[in-house]
Amino acid sequence: MTNETARIQPADLKVRKGQTPIVCLTAYDTPMARRTDAHCDLLLVGDSLAMVVYGLETTRGVTLEIMIAHGQAVMRGSQKACVVVDLPHGSYESSAEQALASAKRVMDETRCQAVKLEGGEDMADAVAAIVEAGIPVFGHIGLLPQKAEGRGGFKIQGKDDEGARQVMRDAKAIEAAGAFAIVIEGTIEPVARAVTEEISIPTIGIGASPACDGQILVTPDMAGLFSDFTPRFVKQYADAGAVIDDAIEAYAKDVRERRFPELKHCFGVESKTEEAAE
Ligand code: KIV
Repeated sequence: MTNETARIQPADLKVRKGQTPIVCLTAYDTPMARRTDAHCDLLLVGDSLAMVVYGLETTRGVTLEIMIAHGQAVMRGSQKACVVVDLPHGSYESSAEQALASAKRVMDETRCQAVKLEGGEDMADAVAAIVEAGIPVFGHIGLLPQKAEGRGGFKIQGKDDEGARQVMRDAKAIEAAGAFAIVIEGTIEPVARAVTEEISIPTIGIGASPACDGQILVTPDMAGLFSDFTPRFVKQYADAGAVIDDAIEAYAKDVRERRFPELKHCFGVESKTEEAAE
């Protein structure tokens, strides 16, 4: 049984503004939650799983039920990090009431610490309704993958004066609505820096700025598990995909050449390892 009071809470992260950087990664399942939990302040059950787990073209196409199932898996695998579950496309945009109902379901069924939703000024009412109901919200502004049509729609934000002003207005609207922190995604560095300086809650950057109060990456991207494409903002810290490829190739060769299983992997044969396993 997890001691939920030992977990980092959204309020703990909110007061980290301007202090040591907040370390965030995505996690979608129990094994990855176990690996990331010890090193991260926040684990995001991101709807990026639509692309990196389910092989879809965009982050659309995952349902609330799918996000809840992955949220439960990540909660089972973690004990320390603040777990945030994304509200998927179609589950919150119609009205503040719809957003609140979806947020309540996620919180009740996963016992996670907060929900995240994409949008700025247009989503401020939804954020406010969720926060007023006592549910912490992680905002998400700048490049909004749910609204991008395919990979060609992934456009860097804040490039012209009006774009920069819009990112700032979005940040301020989500801050005023009561979010505890905001993801700034795919936004030119000076704008992400200016937003970080201007608002009182932590900014978490992805393709944004080293000045942000924390950083997040999609774990399969940074670990080299997802190689369909690697955005410029990703630093790949390992080539775990190559390690797995080698293991699978070696296994297939062993099976074809009858080198696996060995008798030590079998039952009912005299061996020391069998005794140890029983
Ligand atoms: O879905 C996700 O993984 C995200 C991060 C990229 C911030 O929203």
